Amino acid sequence: MSKKNNDFFVQKKDWSEVKDKLLACYLKPYITKILCTNKPIIYVDCFAGQGMFDDGKAGSPIIALDIIEQCKNITTISNPNIYAYFIELNHFQRLKENIARYPYANISIGKYENNIRDILLNKQGCNVFLYLDPYGIKGLKWSLFDSFAQMNFNTIELLINMNSFGFIREACRVFDIKFKEEFIFEDLIEYETTTLDNSTKSIDELNEIAGGIYWQPIIQEMKSGFINGYKAEERFMEEYCKNMSRQYKYVLNMPIRIKQGQHPKYRLVHVTNHPEGCILMANNICKRWEAMREIQNGGQMLLFDEDYENNTIDDQIINKFAYEYFSGTSNVKKLSEAQAGFYVKYGPICSLNKINDALKRFEKNHQIEILRNPSYTKTGKVTTFMTEGKGRTVSIRWLK
Ligand SMILES: C[S@@+](CC[C@H](N)C(=O)[O-])C[C@H]1O[C@@H](n2cnc3c(N)ncnc32)[C@H](O)[C@@H]1O
Repeated sequence: MSKKNNDFFVQKKDWSEVKDKLLACYLKPYITKILCTNKPIIYVDCFAGQGMFDDGKAGSPIIALDIIEQCKNITTISNPNIYAYFIELNHFQRLKENIARYPYANISIGKYENNIRDILLNKQGCNVFLYLDPYGIKGLKWSLFDSFAQMNFNTIELLINMNSFGFIREACRVFDIKFKEEFIFEDLIEYETTTLDNSTKSIDELNEIAGGIYWQPIIQEMKSGFINGYKAEERFMEEYCKNMSRQYKYVLNMPIRIKQGQHPKYRLVHVTNHPEGCILMANNICKRWEAMREIQNGGQMLLFDEDYENNTIDDQIINKFAYEYFSGTSNVKKLSEAQAGFYVKYGPICSLNKINDALKRFEKNHQIEILRNPSYTKTGKVTTFMTEGKGRTVSIRWLK
């Protein structure tokens, strides 16, 4: 283990804070909502770490376990079934000590790749949430992601911290190209020193991580000098997410920056087969992003909102995108599917309220029909709700 690796848990760094905040702000509404399915929740932290950093700050296992406790305490569902699993290859001893006060937490010692199938065996019909936060890219085997999609869970969600520049750097090594953006990794402590070289075995390994060979022409373009490392990373991630969407209907690709205006350090990828999960994630990212932007600006007001990509997003742009997207829904479509589809296409650029505001404007202008069931309240008024569940359904259809 290199010195760098040992440093990881000494002090919690900014980017670990960002990752954990995003996980935390999503998990609470996720668990609260998914408990209503009355099916068990299987939460797996696939690269768990120590549970707690040496400076006393909580790592992802403690963050998740605390949220599970809170949700169990406040839910009205009787006997909520939530099972938590933590896989760790190296720091399992510290992990055991740090999460000993949660007796129901299961620890699997060893590699995620070797343990995950056993954990998910016989979990058909359950709601499965996998959190994957490896140091590098090697653990992220595509064939496993493929197999999870076939396992007949009630719902499945994956939240992946994808070290996409790590992939590009390895791919450059395999193709004998100098990776010029090496400074990206300066404050991104990585665990695994690479063993990849220009052998066929290394190419196969990258094919297995990417889930195909589409990354190779991108690296060739870099080699020819047509694109730089940033562009290559962006293109690779676009293709990676497209590939994911063959198995999982809703894929969100979220670049993570530590400071405003920076290039992304890595990507958070959220994939799921159910629209509500996608909407919940995107909406939470937006809220979290607004909060983080305030921290970055030292509380100074910005004239316009910015999205997670540092692009300026004002209401006019949201309206333009909303028109572009919803005017394509000439068939009746479930509202949640349409909202999730919007986020998949444009990314988590605005809160759900803003999407709904645009839809209501279209409704008022007779451009869209919003079909609500029930369509009248008990007192005979026309209903205006925009959320489904508890006996309510909402569908939309573009009219002109
Ligand atoms: C980035 S750290 C996880 C940090 C954790 N999410 C947190 O917030 O505290 C990655 C962890 O994965 C572990 N690890 C490395 N390779 C692994 C593998 N193949 N399977 C499971 N764990 C692995 C490392 O020992 C390390 O503790």
